[in-house]
Amino acid sequence: MASQHTSERVLLAGASGATGQELLSVLRPTDLTVRATTRSYANVDTLERHGADEVLVADFFESADAVAAVEDCDIVYCALGTPPSYRHVTGGKLVDRTGVVNLVTAALSEGVSHFVFESAIGVGNSKAGMPFPARLVVRGSLSAKRDAETALRRAGIEYTIVRPGRLTNEPPSGEVVVGEGGDSVTGSISRADVARVMAAAPFTPDARNRTFEVVSRDGLSGTPTNLVEVDWVDDRLAAARERRHL
Ligand SMILES: NC(=O)c1ccc[n+]([C@@H]2O[C@H](COP(=O)([O-])OP(=O)(O)OC[C@H]3O[C@@H](n4cnc5c(N)ncnc54)[C@H](OP(=O)(O)O)[C@@H]3O)[C@@H](O)[C@H]2O)c1
Repeated sequence: MASQHTSERVLLAGASGATGQELLSVLRPTDLTVRATTRSYANVDTLERHGADEVLVADFFESADAVAAVEDCDIVYCALGTPPSYRHVTGGKLVDRTGVVNLVTAALSEGVSHFVFESAIGVGNSKAGMPFPARLVVRGSLSAKRDAETALRRAGIEYTIVRPGRLTNEPPSGEVVVGEGGDSVTGSISRADVARVMAAAPFTPDARNRTFEVVSRDGLSGTPTNLVEVDWVDDRLAAARERRHL
C-alpha cells in the first residue's frame, strides 16, 4: 500500500513541536492528507496556516484521544516529547511512554500500515551514543522511550524507529549518516534532516521494521561503526518539491 500513489491520510502526532513543524513543512506539498495534533487550541490556526489539512486537539495520555487521532489514517508519524520537566530525570508518567503506547495501540486497532517513531540515541542498546552526564539528566525519558520502542516492535505494525543524536535547528544538510544496532553513531543532527528521514520511511522498503541511529555528517563525533546504506525512497516528497518550483 505504501508504494501506491493514492491519497493517504497521515497522522502527525506532535505537529506543534520543533521536529513536528519540520515534518509538516516536508509533508505539506505532498499529495498526503496531513492530520496534525497539538494539545493547545492556541496552536490550531498556526498549524492550519503551515499546511495541516486537519488539526486535532488531543492529549495522548487519553487513550480515547489516540483512537480519535488515528481514525482513517494509513501512516503515523510520532514526534511527541515531554516538555522541560523534572520527569525527564525521575520518569513516571511521560508522553514518551504512555502517550506513544496509547498511539501504538490505537494504530494497531485502526490497521495503520506504517508507524514512524522519533526516539533518541541513548535509548536501549544505543546507550553508549549519549554522553554519560546527558544520560543522567534524561534517564527517565530514555527509559520511557525504551518501553515505547519495545511496545512498537511487539505490536506487529510495520514500523521505523528513528533515533537521532542531539537535535539542532540548523537547516537541512541532506547528508545523514545512518547506523544500526545501537552502538553505531554519535553526534548531532538538525530536526530538518530528521524530518526528511522520517517522512521517507514509510515509502522506503529498506526502512521496514528497522531501528536506525542518525546524525548528520557534519555533526558526527567519534568514529562511526555499524553504518548502513539505506536507499531512501522520497520520490513523493521530491515530486512535490518539483511541482512547487514549476
Ligand atoms: N533535544 C534533543 O537533543 C533530542 C535528541 C534526540 C531525540 N529527541 C526527542 O525527539 C522528540 C522531538 O523533540 P522536539 O524537541 O523536536 O519536540 P518538542 O518541541 O519538544 O515537541 C514535542 C511535541 O509533543 C507534544 N506533546 C507533549 N505532550 C503531549 C501529550 N500529552 N499529548 C499530546 N501531545 C503532546 C507537544 O504538543 P503541544 O505542546 O502542542 O501540546 C509537541 O508537539 C522528543 O521525543 C525528544 O525527546 C530530542
